[in-house]
Amino acid sequence: MNVIDKDPRIIVALDFAAKEPALDLISQLDPSLCRLKVGKELFTRLGPAFVETLAAMGFQVFLDLKFHDIPNTVAAACEAAADLGVWMVNLHASGGRRMMEAARERLERRPERPLLVAVTILTSLAEGDLAEVGYSGTPVENVLRLAKLTHFSGLDGIVCSPLEAAAVRDQVDRDFLLVTPGVRPHSASLNDQKRVMTPLAALNGGADMLVIGRPITAAVDPLLSLQEILSDIAGFSQ
Ligand code: C5P
Repeated sequence: MNVIDKDPRIIVALDFAAKEPALDLISQLDPSLCRLKVGKELFTRLGPAFVETLAAMGFQVFLDLKFHDIPNTVAAACEAAADLGVWMVNLHASGGRRMMEAARERLERRPERPLLVAVTILTSLAEGDLAEVGYSGTPVENVLRLAKLTHFSGLDGIVCSPLEAAAVRDQVDRDFLLVTPGVRPHSASLNDQKRVMTPLAALNGGADMLVIGRPITAAVDPLLSLQEILSDIAGFSQ
């Protein structure tokens, strides 16, 4: 297991459809203050070269592509992500233990490797949606089951809602990473997020790192907005 440096704890979600606004935002940020998340939209538009550009600028990149396929394919995709120099990569826990173990084992062959985390249950899925695809129980019950499977498979952590973090934290070691989106500073608009927590409340509830998009990316002064969030959580030390 890597020694995990949790700071900086803020991961800025680069949810942009083009390179220019993304680069404009990044030029106002600093790798000592935040990490960056590249998701399916930006990656599909700009490709691996953009991820390498961010890494070359000194940013640690969370490549949020949520891999889900047969074990060999996911392991190879994680290796390709590692070759890009990313700091964190993710997959779907519902791909199963053998898929997660194959990815972890492939990454562990490297002298340096990205952190590997799993998505348990997408927060867009309610109990009825889960029933339609054959999952019984509530979303939280499924999150806990898949979080434990992820932990058992030797991954570094999961992505989960801050509202689920405390329940997951009770079931896993302190060094199992909980990465949480759905975070909003007091002053920020909710946008389309419905169930949110403030950054400090999320950390106090068991989260380790916070994915934050629009409160920073759509701010008039993104750096100031990031600095305000950092000063809100400055008192947190664990
Ligand atoms: O702008 P905002 O702070 O809502 O962005 C949050 C980021 O986290 C987005 O990239 C979104 O796709 C992601 N995310 C989320 N909720 C989840 C999983 C991922 O908001 N349950």
